[in-house]
Amino acid sequence: MKKVGIIGLGEYLPKRVLTNAELEKMVDTSDEWITTRTGIKERRIAADSEATSDMALIAAREALEQAKLKPLELDLIIVATITPDMPLPSTASILQNALGAKHAVAFDISAACAGFVYALSIAQQFIARGSYRNALVIGAEKLSSVTDWKDRNTCVLFGDGAGAAVLSEVHSGGILSTYLGCDGSKTELLNQPAGGSRKPATAKTLEAREHYVKMQGNELFKIAVKTMTEAAETVLKQAGLTFKDVDLIIPHQANARIILAVGKKLGIDEEKIFLNIEKHGNISSASTVTALVEAVRSGRVKKGDIILLDAFGAGLVWGACVIKW
Ligand code: UT7
Repeated sequence: MKKVGIIGLGEYLPKRVLTNAELEKMVDTSDEWITTRTGIKERRIAADSEATSDMALIAAREALEQAKLKPLELDLIIVATITPDMPLPSTASILQNALGAKHAVAFDISAACAGFVYALSIAQQFIARGSYRNALVIGAEKLSSVTDWKDRNTCVLFGDGAGAAVLSEVHSGGILSTYLGCDGSKTELLNQPAGGSRKPATAKTLEAREHYVKMQGNELFKIAVKTMTEAAETVLKQAGLTFKDVDLIIPHQANARIILAVGKKLGIDEEKIFLNIEKHGNISSASTVTALVEAVRSGRVKKGDIILLDAFGAGLVWGACVIKW
């Protein structure tokens, strides 16, 4: 089995910043409520003309440049998204063409906020076994396209953006262990009811606002804390490490209170937890990867560091990953 690591990273965030003050004018909320309950101050919103693949393309180009690879050298592209450009073809197919990566196999995966960690784990298997050499793994979302701007329970939470990682064989460090999970018995806690085969789009589903994301946040909160804590413990144990070995936890950015509660349960110092939710809100599959990009860019991750990715989302699904940088 080959060692697999991340050799390039990139991100794209749309220009438009939506602040809590603006949301105060749209729904019955306040900057104070959003800040204290979630840690979010602002989020980015894609332009009408920007689709998920457009954001993914910019992030992908940056990651490839950093990896010093040409698109033609890619063997595999996986896009994790719950907001594809369209139901078919896959956003990965659209991206493959836009990049000019014509030798790459390309497909999407749907694992909501754990999507990037799921995709990372899939790509790692292909490279470790020698099936492919270079993989591009993307987390990209235009959540604003499925957000009900009249529902204060959800519209204050989400943002848009994309992150990309190029994976290849490495000779030191790399991905030490991954752990994925799913509990499909609680799909009612977070979903987008209409638009699929269960409830195709009709005038009735549109009127009932069933094409938007619905969430029972309070229930999810408790499960998120428990599950992310257990996932972090499991993946570290698999890697033969303890929390003392971890230099930085880079969690899915759904709620600062969830993240800090997980840190507390694990007995980890706050300075070892990376938070960027203040500026981005929750970008689902793009959340963990953009946090990773920003942690590396800001110098919080140094060569040889042990980092832990930890994500949880609709499905319910979760995924954690230990990487030696
Ligand atoms: O991305 C992966 C999956 N997502 C998550 O894991 C998210 C998990 N959940 C959360 O982050 C939190 O539950 C929320 C941020 C969604 C909500 O925070 P909370 O502290 O759990 O609030 P709550 O849902 O218990 O609501 C408390 C009150 C309610 O009012 P009443 O019933 O107490 O009068 C809500 O109606 O806050 C009200 N509320 C709001 N008030 C002002 C809900 N949303 C808002 C809002 N502004 N935007």
